[in-house]
Amino acid sequence: MTQQTDQFKKVISHAKEYGFVFPSSEIYDGLSAVYDYAQNGVALKNNIREYWWKSMVQLHENIVGIDAAILMHPTTWKASGHVDAFNDPLIDNKVSKKRYRADVLVEDYVAKIEAKIDKEIQKAAKRFGDSFDEAQFRATNPRVVANQEKATLILKRLGQSLEKEDLADVKALIEELEISCPDTGSRDWTDVKQFNLMFGTKLGASADTAMDLYLRPETAQGIFVNYLNVQKTGRMKLPFGIAQTGKAFRNEIVARQFIFRMREFEQMEMQFFIPPGTQKEWYEQWKQTRLSWHLSLGMGEENYRFHDHEKLAHYADAASDIEFKFPFGFKELEGIHSRTDFDLSSHEKFTGKKLQYFDPERNENYTPYVVETSIGLDRMFLAVFSWALREETLEDGSTRTLLKLPSVLAPTKVVVLPLLKKDGLPELAHKIVDTLKWEYATAYDEKDAVGRRYRRQDALGTPFCITVDHQSLEDNTVTLRDRDSMQQERVAIEDLSSLLGEKLDIKNWLQKI
Ligand code: GAP
Repeated sequence: MTQQTDQFKKVISHAKEYGFVFPSSEIYDGLSAVYDYAQNGVALKNNIREYWWKSMVQLHENIVGIDAAILMHPTTWKASGHVDAFNDPLIDNKVSKKRYRADVLVEDYVAKIEAKIDKEIQKAAKRFGDSFDEAQFRATNPRVVANQEKATLILKRLGQSLEKEDLADVKALIEELEISCPDTGSRDWTDVKQFNLMFGTKLGASADTAMDLYLRPETAQGIFVNYLNVQKTGRMKLPFGIAQTGKAFRNEIVARQFIFRMREFEQMEMQFFIPPGTQKEWYEQWKQTRLSWHLSLGMGEENYRFHDHEKLAHYADAASDIEFKFPFGFKELEGIHSRTDFDLSSHEKFTGKKLQYFDPERNENYTPYVVETSIGLDRMFLAVFSWALREETLEDGSTRTLLKLPSVLAPTKVVVLPLLKKDGLPELAHKIVDTLKWEYATAYDEKDAVGRRYRRQDALGTPFCITVDHQSLEDNTVTLRDRDSMQQERVAIEDLSSLLGEKLDIKNWLQKI
């Protein structure tokens, strides 16, 4: 087992063991690529959503939020292009009968080349120590240069073939690279075909009058169809944005990698409406703003990179992904797309209604252009969770499992632990919980020895433990333990709230953006 798959397996089992993510309907053996968030998972997910919402809506005078329905008029999806163009190229292996996304097979092949490059770099960094210059090594080491060129060429060809809808060439590429079925090793492939990813459903009681609907595959269209309503009722002036979080559904061909690619997932999207001709500067600006949002969580600059798209979606004139280093390599976490006026113009055509803006400065009417930022909430959850999970060796040689969540996102912010279950310690501990719970998600735990309770909270990602002991009864002080440093300090109970606030107050985090 590679180190990567080993780490990823740990992520999945930790998520289950500590009440973060369960397979959906598990007692019926689960449903492929559908997951439930458990007691701690839902809190982490809510905190991520709040961190996004506050940064987008509360901190921008010109961004407002909505919550549109999942079910939309079916013509929406004709206008948006999803009926005709929301396809993935699929390929079947004739021996294993397994179905794959043809582009993902090629991308996985390239990821293996990139892993080789990374390994080469790590080896060299060890050899050269402080004098190692990664950029120079990448530019001059013949093996790294050759592998990098190979990876770039493959991705370029894949991008071009998909762009031209040349599915025969995608198959040819798979054959030339001798890519085999990951399950059986067979290289006996069918042709590549397109597969529409939308889930269909029906509205209405009787079979003959029922209307065919789709479960929305992106939240964005709920924003586009409400553009004029929001602009008029909110008296919004361009540029302005509409933000939304909510469920989206895709019948993914390859649904794997846990909550990375799900069939039911949640998006956090913001459509920024702008005058035509300004899309380039807004696109660049939103790329940087969104990267700063990620960096504000302190998960390491080296774990993010931009990937500008060669193959553009049917609606975009520029697109870039913010990729994150997941346990299985760098993969898309968020998309920033310059969507032109494609969506609004198309809805105008299909409805016959004008979705225009009168610009008093330009003294003209026009259909606004749009730059969107779109991030998967579940994918962000996986990024945070997998980054945070680690094994640490302590000074005494023992190990601890630590979930080093950015404390602003932690499901439980503080837990109060009476040293013993007697002598009035539980009563005082409960009193502290009752004071702190108004500001912070606070828990109480009295089971097991205190050392074991600390370990459990480390694995749950709780930033602070407060221990109530006999001294507490005498002088109203407690010990405050920091999850990351494991340092403990004696503090007055009355100072707890302000001490915790320094690390937990969302304002202190969002100000870093
Ligand atoms: N409105 C634009 C849009 O939907 P996208 O690149 O298809 O663009 C945006 O999706 C984000 O949604 C992705 O960057 C990813 O984080 C998330 N996402 C997409 N498909 C997903 C899936 N099947 N499971 C989990 N997250 C997904």
